[in-house]
Amino acid sequence: MNRREFLTTTLAAGTTGSAASTAVAQDRKAVKILGVSCSPRKGKTTAAALAVCLEAARAVDPAVTTELIELAGRNIGVYDPANVEAAQGGFAALIPILSDPNVSGIIVGTPIYMGNMTSLCKAFLDHCIVFRRQKFALGGKVGGVVAVGAGRNGGQETALHGVQASLLCQEMIVVGDGQPTSHFGATLVNDGKDSIAGDEVGVATAKNLGRHVAEVALRLAAGTK
Ligand SMILES: Cc1cc2nc3c(=O)[nH]c(=O)nc-3n(C[C@H](O)[C@H](O)[C@H](O)COP(=O)(O)O)c2cc1C
Repeated sequence: MNRREFLTTTLAAGTTGSAASTAVAQDRKAVKILGVSCSPRKGKTTAAALAVCLEAARAVDPAVTTELIELAGRNIGVYDPANVEAAQGGFAALIPILSDPNVSGIIVGTPIYMGNMTSLCKAFLDHCIVFRRQKFALGGKVGGVVAVGAGRNGGQETALHGVQASLLCQEMIVVGDGQPTSHFGATLVNDGKDSIAGDEVGVATAKNLGRHVAEVALRLAAGTK
């Protein structure tokens, strides 16, 4: 039985609520995956794409829990080396949440602005330098990236690579969307009415990314390759 079959079997058992499956879930180390939306707009398409990722992550295994964090309204300023704490704004409250050892994966979502990540996303990633100075507190966590634009080729891949570069600087284990799409991460298109629901291809990449992040995090938690 390969891992996918194993997980499918475990999930099927979980839906019947068998005692055996409950015991398996309790034995396994809990795996928490965060989604961080770097859109200045709360609850819009980037948050929706991350919700798809997180739902797919939870579906992998009962041991997976998730939380969506939105940066909108948190007043995170441009990183200023001369005045770090003043510029942090609401980022300060996120430091213990992101570096919590129980967090096994972080999926960063950004809208596309001018062919790249938002300035809010870059500010967030720059503030994350604090973790390098905390003995690489994000090191070993699995990282994935989601990008949502108004165009099919509006800069999503460019943004994915840019965010991934920052995650690599944290010694995170960066993964792309899993099979069958298997590229750099999730790339979605806003239909112009602030919906991603009709973007079947993009939603598939979001599901595959969420599942892949969860699968790798579970493997790492179990100490297996
Ligand atoms: C300032 C600005 C620049 C944008 N630039 C691009 C772009 O270069 N390419 C693209 O595909 N979409 C672009 N968009 C559209 C957004 O990426 C798109 O509406 C996205 O769904 C917004 O994410 P949100 O719903 O989470 O806020 C831009 C939007 C704004 C406000």
